[in-house]
Amino acid sequence: MTTLLTDEHPLMKRGLGRLEGQVAIVTGANSGIGRAIARLYAREGAKVLAVDIDGEAIEPRIDALIQADGGTATFMQGDLTKAEVNQRMLDTAVATYGKVDVFAPIAGTGVRSKAHETTDEQWHSVIDINLNGTFYGIRAVLKHMVEQRSGSIVMMASSLGTLGTEDYPAYCASKGALVNLTRQLAIDYSPLGIRINSLCPGPVETPRGMRNARQRGNFEEEMERRRQNVRGLHRIAKPEEIAYAALFLACDESSYVTGHNLVIDGGQTTDA
Ligand SMILES: NC(=O)c1ccc[n+]([C@@H]2O[C@H](COP(=O)([O-])OP(=O)(O)OC[C@H]3O[C@@H](n4cnc5c(N)ncnc54)[C@H](O)[C@@H]3O)[C@@H](O)[C@H]2O)c1
Repeated sequence: MTTLLTDEHPLMKRGLGRLEGQVAIVTGANSGIGRAIARLYAREGAKVLAVDIDGEAIEPRIDALIQADGGTATFMQGDLTKAEVNQRMLDTAVATYGKVDVFAPIAGTGVRSKAHETTDEQWHSVIDINLNGTFYGIRAVLKHMVEQRSGSIVMMASSLGTLGTEDYPAYCASKGALVNLTRQLAIDYSPLGIRINSLCPGPVETPRGMRNARQRGNFEEEMERRRQNVRGLHRIAKPEEIAYAALFLACDESSYVTGHNLVIDGGQTTDA
């Protein structure tokens, strides 16, 4: 395994082969949490189809990062708010690697605004990727997994799917919807061998998380406010700390876990 000169994921350990022989699709894979998940899944032996609307924002692109680790990955550029792009994603994975065992739809976004000042465009830009895009992806992949009679879907909700926060109506609504979609899908598909779970992270140090903090005014004050909101650990998570939870839900070690919204929030929601 090659060690990169500056490793952006210092908490990521060598893989133990937990996903050996498996094929994973990860969306939002070129940045933040999705990038760490795609890389960790590959380290654990999965062949990864990494999907993102933007393959240029961060260098090296995720497939090159994985290949530098000695792993196997293909990159697909596409806007996952469109149902046909989600179908192309499934078709690409099956054509390239023969099957799909793990699907992690991580791509998402948020816009800060008061509800009465939120434009149609802002509302739809969030719902279209966080909720509709996730659903389109799951619908496409489920058709394959149902035939296969196996699979693990790891959705990206948020601690803000269970908590409210200031100026975030579309985001909180979309993530709350994913929390309950997780439960609903688990009832229909777990009997067919497909486990469906969600991640509910608290604040994470990612390009989007940092952009979002800047939108709130004084960056340092906002970061301190976020740290203090995390009642247990009083710090913001690294993407790898979320990726390890995504690994647990993807692999056989969580074989009895389905319909679960796994909170990884340093204690943010302890008294919610
Ligand atoms: N950062 C946090 O604090 C935090 C906390 C809880 C949950 N989350 C969730 O984790 C996920 C990833 O967040 P992040 O902070 O890593 O963000 P990020 O912006 O760093 O990464 C998101 C990626 O999704 C991609 N993407 C966005 N819209 C897309 C589209 N239409 N089609 C395809 N790709 C698209 C972006 O290009 C980007 O590469 C999101 O769903 C977010 O809501 C983040």
